[in-house]
Amino acid sequence: MGIAENLARVRERIDAVCSRAARNRDTVRLVAVSKGQSIEAILVAFAAGQTVFGENYAQELHEKADALPEAEWHFIGTLQTNKARIVVGHAALVHTCDRVALAKELSKRAEAKNLIQRVLLEVNIAREPQKGGALPEEVDALCAAVREMEWLRCEGLMCIPPPGQDPRPHFRALRDMRDRLGLRELSMGMSADFEVAVEEGSTIVRVGTAIFGERPPRK
Ligand SMILES: Cc1ncc(COP(=O)(O)O)c(C=O)c1O
Repeated sequence: MGIAENLARVRERIDAVCSRAARNRDTVRLVAVSKGQSIEAILVAFAAGQTVFGENYAQELHEKADALPEAEWHFIGTLQTNKARIVVGHAALVHTCDRVALAKELSKRAEAKNLIQRVLLEVNIAREPQKGGALPEEVDALCAAVREMEWLRCEGLMCIPPPGQDPRPHFRALRDMRDRLGLRELSMGMSADFEVAVEEGSTIVRVGTAIFGERPPRK
């Protein structure tokens, strides 16, 4: 199947789960994860009406956002502090702000560009040792710190549950945290689990392979 057909199928599945879960369809946004995909593939999705794309690498985000500025670009990858300057101004939303030092750098770069950078806080919801994200007990302090930063707007939380486990309890835990903090957005759900994520309240699903097929190997 082609990209346009895959996209239509993913949209239908989101529509169906929204009806089942009695959720307004407008409360769920689809980010097409285009890391490793060519501009040609992205243009096919864009022509089929997909306007929001997610990238995991700062330089790749920069290049693609310059090539297709009409789209909305999100940064969803692990972000090194020294790459924050590349991302600010190119990403409408950064999903992976996970520590105060990174937030400070994003804020500094946003101020230099005279823009408000929208961010989500990434949470290492299952406390996996190798994974990015703030630990659950660090999130309150991180959120408080980011809320003090004039050039950042903290909109919600993001997580990537551990592979091979039932994601539902992790999605629930993230939702509870989001509610407690009084935030709006919940970025959760990928190709394998976006329907469960929508059932559990996700407002942003990040779907790659179900739209574009397997990613080409990284050069
Ligand atoms: C943070 C993040 N979200 C979502 C995705 C998309 O995953 P999938 O291709 O399984 O939909 C990726 C893929 O690399 C990712 O890194």
